[in-house]
Amino acid sequence: MNVEKTPPMVRFKGVMKKFGKVVAVEKTDLEINEGELVTLLGPSGCGKTTLLRMVAGLETPTEGDIYIKDKRINDVPVHQRNLGMIFQNYALFPHKNIFDNVAFGLKYRDIPKQDITEKVVRALEMVRLPGVEKRMPSQLSGGQQQRIAMARAIVIEPDVLLMDEPLSALDENLREEMRREVDNLQQMLGVTTIFVTHDQREALSMSDKIVVMKDGRKLQEGTPDVVYNRPSNHFVADFLGHSNFTAGMVAGFEDDLVEVHLDAGNTLWALQKNGWKEGDRVEVVIRAQKYEIFPESELNSADARNLFKGRITDRSYMGGEVSYFIDLGEGQEVHAISMMRTQIYEIGETVYVQASPQHCHLLPAE
Ligand SMILES: Nc1ncnc2c1ncn2[C@@H]1O[C@H](COP(=O)(O)OP(=O)(O)OP(=O)(O)O)[C@@H](O)[C@H]1O
Ligand SMILES: [Mg+2]
Repeated sequence: MNVEKTPPMVRFKGVMKKFGKVVAVEKTDLEINEGELVTLLGPSGCGKTTLLRMVAGLETPTEGDIYIKDKRINDVPVHQRNLGMIFQNYALFPHKNIFDNVAFGLKYRDIPKQDITEKVVRALEMVRLPGVEKRMPSQLSGGQQQRIAMARAIVIEPDVLLMDEPLSALDENLREEMRREVDNLQQMLGVTTIFVTHDQREALSMSDKIVVMKDGRKLQEGTPDVVYNRPSNHFVADFLGHSNFTAGMVAGFEDDLVEVHLDAGNTLWALQKNGWKEGDRVEVVIRAQKYEIFPESELNSADARNLFKGRITDRSYMGGEVSYFIDLGEGQEVHAISMMRTQIYEIGETVYVQASPQHCHLLPAE
C-alpha cells in the first residue's frame, strides 16, 4: 500500500520578520498538524502575535515561506485564506446585531440566504448562545461577546482558527470556564488551532503542543508533559511552573543515577536521562511541587539520598496548596509547594526536604 504522509496543516519554513531594524521573529521552522491545538507561549514582545499575523496575512514575512495544506500562501490575500480569527478585544461590530456579526464572514462567499441563516443558528448553538440573533453586542456580557466572536470565527468552517490571547480580558473565573469552552469546541470541530498566550496554565491545560518562545526564537516545542517535565533549557524550566535551580558538576554514576556535586557543597542524585559524563557542568532543576517536606519524627533512615535539613522561613497559601521557603544554610534555599491536606508547618520550624532522583532534571550549564 502506498502510504502518503499527510502534509501539516500549517508550515513555517525559515520564516523571519523584521520591523525596520527590530527582528520580531527570528528564522523559524514550525509544523502544525491537522486538528491540533498548538499554543505559542512566551513573555511579552517575544513575537507570538507577529507569527500569528503572518499566518493571517496581516503581516508579510521578511524571509521564508508559509504553507497551508502544502500551498504557499505568502501572496494569498487575507480574505482568501479561509481562516477564523479571534483577538483579545472581542472586536464585534457594535452597531450590528449578533446575527449580522456572526454572518459577516459568510456574506462575501456567495452563499444562499437560507443557508446563511442555518449556519448562524448552528454556530450560536455551538457556543451555547442560541436565540440571541437580534441582540446588540452591548446587551451581552464580556464572556458572551467572546463566545459570539468564536461563533463568527467558526461559522465559515475555517481551515485554521487563530486566537490571540482571546481570554485575557476576562476575569479569572470566567477565564477558566472559557478555557474549557474553547477546548471543547476545538475538539468537537477538530479544527486546527493556533492559540497565543503568555499564561502557562492556559497553555498547559489546553494544548496538544506548546511552542515556547523568547526574543523571537522558538526555544522548545512539545506536548505539555514534555515541556513541563523535560524542559530543554533554563528559560523553559523557569517560565513553566515554580522551579528550584542549583548549579553543580557531574561527579560519578551508580546504576541509573548520576551523582552531582553542587557548588554549595551538597550532593544530589538524579536519574540518568542523557549521556552525561564526569566533569560536565550542569544545572539541576527541581519543581517546587516535587519536594516532600516532613518533620524529624518521620525521618526514615532507609533512603538518605537528596535529603536536606532546613528551617521554614516563609509560608503562604495559594488555593489548595501551601508554598514554603526553606533555608538549608550556606545560602541555599528551597521553594517547596505541598498540598493543603498534608501537615502544615510553621515559620521557624525545622523540617526535612527530599526530592526523589526521578524528579531531579539535569540541564547543561548555560
Ligand atoms: N508593527 C510593528 N512595528 C514595529 N515593531 C513591531 C510591530 N509589531 C511588533 N513589533 C515588535 O516586534 C516584537 C514582537 O512583537 P509581538 O507583538 O509579536 O510580541 P508578542 O509576543 O505578541 O507580545 P505580547 O505578549 O505583549 O502581545 C516586539 O519587539 C514589538 O515591539
Ligand atoms: Mg501579542
